[in-house]
Amino acid sequence: MNYRNGCGAEMSQQSGTAPEAGLAVVIMAAGKGTRLKSRRPKVLHEVGGKPLLAHVIAAATAIVPAERVFVVVGHQAERVREAVAASGVRFIVQAEQRGTGHAIQCARPEVEGFESILVLSGDVPLIRPESIARLWQFHREQKAAMTLLTTRPEEVAGYGRVIRCAPGTPEVEAIVEQKALTADQQSIGEINAGIYAFQTAPLFGHLGELKARNAHAELYLTDMAALLRAAGERVVAIEAPDAEEVLGANTLAELASLDATLRAATARRLMAAGVTIFRPETCVIDAGVEVAPDSVIEPFVQLLGATRIGGDCRIRSYTVIENCTLGESVEVLPHCVLAGSAIGAGARIGPFANMRPGCEIAEQVHIGNFVEAKNTKLGKGAKSNHLAYLGDSEIGPRTNIGAGTIFCNYDGVKKHKTTIGEGVFVGSNSTLVAPVTIADGAYVGAASCITKDVPADALVVGRARQVTKEGWAAARRKSRQGGSTTGTSR
Ligand code: UD1
Ligand code: CA
Repeated sequence: MNYRNGCGAEMSQQSGTAPEAGLAVVIMAAGKGTRLKSRRPKVLHEVGGKPLLAHVIAAATAIVPAERVFVVVGHQAERVREAVAASGVRFIVQAEQRGTGHAIQCARPEVEGFESILVLSGDVPLIRPESIARLWQFHREQKAAMTLLTTRPEEVAGYGRVIRCAPGTPEVEAIVEQKALTADQQSIGEINAGIYAFQTAPLFGHLGELKARNAHAELYLTDMAALLRAAGERVVAIEAPDAEEVLGANTLAELASLDATLRAATARRLMAAGVTIFRPETCVIDAGVEVAPDSVIEPFVQLLGATRIGGDCRIRSYTVIENCTLGESVEVLPHCVLAGSAIGAGARIGPFANMRPGCEIAEQVHIGNFVEAKNTKLGKGAKSNHLAYLGDSEIGPRTNIGAGTIFCNYDGVKKHKTTIGEGVFVGSNSTLVAPVTIADGAYVGAASCITKDVPADALVVGRARQVTKEGWAAARRKSRQGGSTTGTSR
């Protein structure tokens, strides 16, 4: 494959982020994240419902196709790889993590054929493609060998500081890591965001000169600024106006704050699109969630994953909805859990309902309190208003499932299906032992245990016949009062 195909490095005017043949992206994600004090690799910690690395990959693949995105993995490499494999990116293994400079040395065989590379940090998740594109454009305009993205956050501790050649000029003299700062340099407010553009020829021409002479005995990619400059190359920096976007997360507290930033942005996006969110700071809404206008989200609601909610819905407090699709005008009452299911227009769910994955609930269905459903289809207008388990079933339109009905779908080995037709009435406290079919219009007497199929329009009663013994209780009381311990017939 010829990466130097002479296409040059024109950024498409169309989107500002179109791919270029000579450009690859390297994402450094091999580090352990010691400061998180967690067994989970840092880049797999989540903000906004997605691993940090998945956010960075999404930004990278907005710039170049996935096959030109190289993720450097090392610490728990397999786990990291698996978590993001679906994105189609490529992986480079950095078996021993000897620093960010070493990570790029490991990437060299894969990327030196490209004219330029963008280097992103796997732990800087809020970076937007537009900001990367701006960095790239500046890099090209400046004809620089190395361009870094900088920002001026309120709290600079822990970041590398950027030493400009002179105030107001783009040129950079060096990046100095926190532990190496001199007393004078402590007050520098401009930090290195860990996001760079490089021309590969000068980068790889000098990368071997990095020395691990620092507090961590690592090879720092940041040292390339001074190295390249000393070699007569141009090193420049561009400041990102929004510090939050380029902040990294080195502690769990910083992660929580990035998460809050991301979710607040999602809530603002939905509110700007006509969704009412009461007390948005109490809601947990993942970045990919869509809600149509005029829907209302009450406090303490969680909307997760790929959830889509139609217009005019009301999601009441303490409900968690994950990977569901809701039609128009659905009302979800408080304390419901809905996962992997589709709910039709005008349906009413809850309070305290549990819709497990695989439910298809048609329009106007009512599901009431303490109803659990799993892998179940309910036809239009069907109702199960109280205390039921509906597992692996198909329930026809307008059918009513009485309180306390249990679908016995599991025989201890296999799951079986319950099929109920249209307009069926299942009396309270019935037990339907699957596989079983109840045809259209049938009636099931309350407390029946149904083990055989029921034909259409039949009445079925499957319970012990009631036995009434007149005067029995009075006779028993009387015999007890007489002191007798024997003789009461049962
Ligand atoms: C780095 C920069 C610092 C900058 C900050 C911004 C260096 C030396 N310092 O510091 O100037 O202000 O980012 O967030 O680069 N990684 C590897 N292999 C390694 C080491 C790290 O892939 O051997 C990866 C990590 O997984 C991480 C990224 O590189 O995603 C940055 O490494 P990290 O250790 O977090 O660097 P910082 O100390 O934050
Ligand atoms: Ca970091």
